[in-house]
Amino acid sequence: MLDLLITHATLPDGRTGMSVAVQDGRIVEVAEGLQAPAHETVDAAGLLLSPPFCDPHFHMDATLSHGLPRVNQSGTLLEGIALWGELKPLLTEEALVERALAYCDWAVAKGLLAIRSHVDTSDPSLLPVRAMLEVKRRVAPYLDLQLVAFPQDGVLRTPGGLDNLRRALDLGVDVVGGIPHFERTMADGAASVKLLCELAAERGLPVDMHCDESDDPLSRHIETLAFETQRLGLQGRVNGSHLTSMHSMDNYYVSKLIPLIAESGVSAVANPLINVTLQGRHDSYPKRRGMTRVPELMAAGVTVAFGHDCVMDPWYSLGSGDMLEVAHMGLHVAQMTSQAGMRQCFDAVTVNAARVMGLADVGIEPGKAASFVLLQAPDPVAAIRLRATRLKVWRRGRLLAETAPAQARLRLPGRPDGTDFTLRRSAG
Ligand code: FE2
Repeated sequence: MLDLLITHATLPDGRTGMSVAVQDGRIVEVAEGLQAPAHETVDAAGLLLSPPFCDPHFHMDATLSHGLPRVNQSGTLLEGIALWGELKPLLTEEALVERALAYCDWAVAKGLLAIRSHVDTSDPSLLPVRAMLEVKRRVAPYLDLQLVAFPQDGVLRTPGGLDNLRRALDLGVDVVGGIPHFERTMADGAASVKLLCELAAERGLPVDMHCDESDDPLSRHIETLAFETQRLGLQGRVNGSHLTSMHSMDNYYVSKLIPLIAESGVSAVANPLINVTLQGRHDSYPKRRGMTRVPELMAAGVTVAFGHDCVMDPWYSLGSGDMLEVAHMGLHVAQMTSQAGMRQCFDAVTVNAARVMGLADVGIEPGKAASFVLLQAPDPVAAIRLRATRLKVWRRGRLLAETAPAQARLRLPGRPDGTDFTLRRSAG
């Protein structure tokens, strides 16, 4: 007897009428029309059963702090960093834990079951690190939280920055971070990439750096990151986050750079909601969008994912943990409006994001964890279009969250009262 059987599901690759059989928290069979005795059977009625959403780039230590101690007036990256500096002395471990746990609740309700969060290591107290490690421990039964040691103020620019980052890793932080474009000079930025990659190689850890998050067409840290990845044999465990300067780079140089990134096995994470609001702030008109070259990187074989980056914090006052909103913005900013392009944007917040995070267990295939989301949409494109309701969210075979289907009841003059209008009917 199976623990769980989902029937009549549509899968992201377009297969319909599919059954997914679950035993002991794992998918044991995926087959068309399969019927078998199970403790629980759920009829998906043709709706989309998706792998869980994964967010490969977030800042959990800052989330839900919007308005503390004040609101970012200019909306710029630099005022955000300054504001975070004002907030840091006021932080308490309890408040950080409470806000992060609240966000994780939102995430699970939205089918977001894996998050890679950067955590600021600049302060020698490592208070945010301790708080996020506590959050990681508390959410482990329902959400995969990976932590990146992130020297927000620059690992070389901050006195004791490298020592603080090392101590964060000693405490159990999973990934080595960096912010080369915030170091004092381009040379210091390159030096920081080299030493942080060497530190990761020494400790056998992955790397995920904020890299070239500027509109400077001459910023070259992604080139150094690709080079160091290759030199140190770190292929497959290094990610470049943001890479917004690539938007503004010379096309000839990019024609050399993208193959270098592909060859080095470095993945890329764009953060569409944040990149499009923070970049191009020094432009008059035309204003650059600032997001990295997503379709071109994908075409070269680079794994590209989308992150949420911020929700209600010093840099961004909106957001709700909805990765379909992230995919929706990414699709627009990258102009990935073909059917194939829109499906790639769905992958960017599901399977590609899982790949960036090194999660091998994500996907609707036999042998993988029985973690998936039933969406109130018939396919990935409609899911993005509608930011579809997450009807049911399972992790390792356990139902974690349910949301009632979205529907409106119309009462229109001259029409029979009480006409039902379901979003689902309009999909497709
Ligand atoms: Fe970030």
